[in-house]
Amino acid sequence: MASRRFTVFTLLVLAAFFFLQVLAVNDLDYMRIKAKPSASPFELALELLQKKINYTFLKIDLLRRAMTHPSFSEENNKALSILGVNVINTFVSMISLRKDIDISPKELNRLISEISKVETSCAADGMRLGLHKMVRISPKTNATAPSVVCGAFRAIFGAVAIDSGKSDDAGSIFWGVHTGEARTALPLKVEIIFMKEQNTDRNRANN
Ligand SMILES: *[C@@H]1O[C@H](CO)[C@@H](O)[C@H](O)[C@H]1NC(C)=O
Ligand SMILES: *[C@@H]1O[C@H](CO)[C@@H](O)[C@H](O)[C@H]1NC(C)=O
Repeated sequence: MASRRFTVFTLLVLAAFFFLQVLAVNDLDYMRIKAKPSASPFELALELLQKKINYTFLKIDLLRRAMTHPSFSEENNKALSILGVNVINTFVSMISLRKDIDISPKELNRLISEISKVETSCAADGMRLGLHKMVRISPKTNATAPSVVCGAFRAIFGAVAIDSGKSDDAGSIFWGVHTGEARTALPLKVEIIFMKEQNTDRNRANN
C-alpha cells in the first residue's frame, strides 16, 4: 500500500516537473528545438531576428552577411548597408510625398535626415532588435558603437531588398521595425502613423 502511494507521488512529481519544463521553454529554446539541434548561437540569432522583423529570407546567407561587420571578414555588410540607406530614404520620401505632394524640399530632407540619424534613430532601432549582441565583429571592435549597430541595421533592409527583389517590401519592413507596428503595405495605415510621428516632432520642436 505504502509503495503504491509512493509510486503515485513519484508520478505526480514527475508530471509537475515535466509541466514546468514545458513552461520554461522560451523563444530561443523554441528556436533551438525547431532549428537543427547543431545550430550555432549565431544561426539561432538569425532565426530569431527574422521573427522580430517579420520577414523570412529565401537566402539566409544575405542576412548572415548583413550581420557581418567589415572588421570580421571580407564578406561583409558594407555595400548592403548603402542599399539599406537608399531603401529607407526612398520609403520615407514616398510616404511623405504621397501625404503631401507640395512638401517643401527642405522639409523632405529634414524628414529623411531625421529618420537616418545614426545616434538617435538608426542605432536605437538596431539596439532594440539586439543587433549589438549578434553582429559578427573583430575582437577589437566595439559592438555597441552606433556606427556598427547602424551599419548592421541598414544592411538588413538592403538584404531584404535583394532577397525579395523589391525595395518597397524592404521599405515596409523597415517601417514596421521602426514604428513597432505590424508590417503594412504602403498606404493608409502607414500614413496615419507617419502623421502622428510628424506631429510629435512638431510638438517637440514647439516646446
Ligand atoms: C562602446 O561604445 C559605446 C557606445 O558608443 C560606449 O558607450 C562604450 O563605452 C564603448 N565601449 C568600449 C569598451 O569602448
Ligand atoms: C507579418 O507579415 C505578414 C505578411 O508577410 C503579415 O500578414 C502579418 O500581419 C505581419 N505580422 C506582423 C506582426 O507584422
